[in-house]
Amino acid sequence: MVPEEIRKRVEELRREIEYHNYRYYVLNDPVISDAEYDALMRELEELERRYPELVTPNSPTQRVGAPPLEEFGTVEHRMPMLSLSNAFSEEEVREFDRRVKRFLGVLHDIQYTAEPKIDGVAVEIIYERGVLTVGATRGDGYRGEDVTQNIRTIKMIPLYLIEDEEPIPEYLSVRGEVYMDREDFRRLNREREERGETLFANPRNAAAGSLRQLDSSVTAKRPLKVFFYGIGECRGREFRSQWEVLQTLPKWGLRVNPFVELCENIEECIHYYQRLLEKREEIPYEMDGIVIKVNDLELQRRLGEISRSPRWAVAFKFPAEEATTRVLDIVVQVGRTGVLTPVAVLEPVQVSGVVVSRATLHNMDEIKRKDVRIGDWVLVHRAGEVIPEVIKPIKERRTGQEREFQMPDRCPACGSKVVRLPGEVAYRCIGLSCPAQLKARIRHFASRRAMDIEGLGEKLIEQLVDRGLVKDLADIYYLKKVDFLKLEGVADKLAQKLLGAIERSKDTTLARFLYALGIRHVGEHLAQLLATHIKKLDNFYNIRKDDLLRIPGIGPEVAESVVSFFRDQENRRVIEKMLQAGLRIREPEEEVAEKPLKGKVFVFTGALESMTREEAKRLVEERGGIAASSVSRRVDYVVVGRDPGSKYDKARTLGLQIIDEEEFKKLLGIE
Ligand code: IVH
Repeated sequence: MVPEEIRKRVEELRREIEYHNYRYYVLNDPVISDAEYDALMRELEELERRYPELVTPNSPTQRVGAPPLEEFGTVEHRMPMLSLSNAFSEEEVREFDRRVKRFLGVLHDIQYTAEPKIDGVAVEIIYERGVLTVGATRGDGYRGEDVTQNIRTIKMIPLYLIEDEEPIPEYLSVRGEVYMDREDFRRLNREREERGETLFANPRNAAAGSLRQLDSSVTAKRPLKVFFYGIGECRGREFRSQWEVLQTLPKWGLRVNPFVELCENIEECIHYYQRLLEKREEIPYEMDGIVIKVNDLELQRRLGEISRSPRWAVAFKFPAEEATTRVLDIVVQVGRTGVLTPVAVLEPVQVSGVVVSRATLHNMDEIKRKDVRIGDWVLVHRAGEVIPEVIKPIKERRTGQEREFQMPDRCPACGSKVVRLPGEVAYRCIGLSCPAQLKARIRHFASRRAMDIEGLGEKLIEQLVDRGLVKDLADIYYLKKVDFLKLEGVADKLAQKLLGAIERSKDTTLARFLYALGIRHVGEHLAQLLATHIKKLDNFYNIRKDDLLRIPGIGPEVAESVVSFFRDQENRRVIEKMLQAGLRIREPEEEVAEKPLKGKVFVFTGALESMTREEAKRLVEERGGIAASSVSRRVDYVVVGRDPGSKYDKARTLGLQIIDEEEFKKLLGIE
């Protein structure tokens, strides 16, 4: 017999733990520390160990998974899970609005909700008297798979509904999308790669694969998340609008996407679409569009459905981030350290609104692992700033004409030997005067974060090297106006501008200069670290490995690379030649005075009125600050603009200092 007070305490602990899950995962606003949370969990585990008869599948302790299944059972959806019809243009969305009005016989504006369309797996979850009893996939819309055990492992999904502001309904079937953040997906794939397992093609496949695991302890280890967006059936509570549904679900602990909005008419929905599309890259999960729904549930009922799609909703799709196309050829690109990167030359195809005709294949190992061949149909991916990449070949479409790619044994740019150093994935051209390497080195040297020579772009560099006007990095500082005028597309004005930019770049900092030199393994961060500790360019010439190893954060590989770079006679000659041309390298002490934000970490969310994000970052960095991309405890200031994203919520949760644009400008010392 279990004493009554134990039974009570166990029940209390479970609800309390679930409440704190809700504070943490849904509201992003925890009210207890991790240690206190762990203490509650331990107390529950201890009681369940002493009284195993109290263990139920709905205990938070069971979120680690249950014994594996032979197969999934099936679940009937009492209300079918419909699919959405798609719209691909503003015109098609306006046409949808006209159809709605025509059907209802009205002329006035229709109110809609606009919601992100999350790219994941649709699920239905049933709560009976507030307790999770069933979780199912959508299946064919009428019956899906019983994935209850797996659903229970997702901490964002409450095992008990919260009864706080709203009474709990007798019966609730709620619908949502289980998904994975891009970053978590990438991490998962990296781990799988290390273990030699097959990779998931995208976050949606990763979410689907993780949810449909017969062994729920596997699901428990996957970083799955959820957003709820609708109700199938609810007994014990009436709703009049979709907006009311979206406002009520979070009160029960069911996480709703923060970007949902109520729109007064279709034009507002279209405007919402544009705003969300702009934010798409900074949002940590994939969305394939927005869903527009007639807000009034009575109108929804009158509109009904046609061929398994509701007449009251439409999906307005974003341009796809993935497309299929053919690999016409595979060529190699020579980087500044001589690394040969295989690149697929594609039949041009639109991917997220841009024509893509090249995509990286990373390296030879990747080509072998993915088995990509010349002539293959492939899936390509492009998101935001990232370089388009080939995800996988579509083997079903092979004709037998495809050819395997071979790494050339001579560099295509200079004809030198190509070698693969032991322990490295990369193949390298060892040519000392390889023009392709030189071009890549100049591109890096001139780039914004290095010497910042504005206007010296790819096409000009190409010509400068091909015409023999630049044979080493230092030659840039000896270029004359007549040299530029020899180049295609350069007239007087541009030549003058380029000379000005080159002149301005002569005044630089030690950190920038070290980074610009392109020393292997020395990125921006390490360049800064080296500059801070070594202080003078001269000190690098006789530096020993041991001196460098004493700097925290510098390992043997970097140390070796720095020492051998400065020992190299040719490198010394080029640096000397630059100094001869009047390069002035400021040492760290000189910088401090000009760096009022030294070491301060900034994060931006939302749009600023008076400058772009890029400009804001540059202004911070010029003053010695650091512009980080994600919120963490290290961040000193969170600058919030118009329509801030999830970073804002996270910043509040962490209690970071939040400032607006005006305060930000004061810190910068402008205005
Ligand atoms: S409403 C009848 N709202 O998109 C209305 N669906 O074909 C049906 N999805 O896989 C769905 N976000 O899971 C709706 N805010 C949202 C959604 C959403 C993602 C998914 C849904 C299903 C597909 C609909």
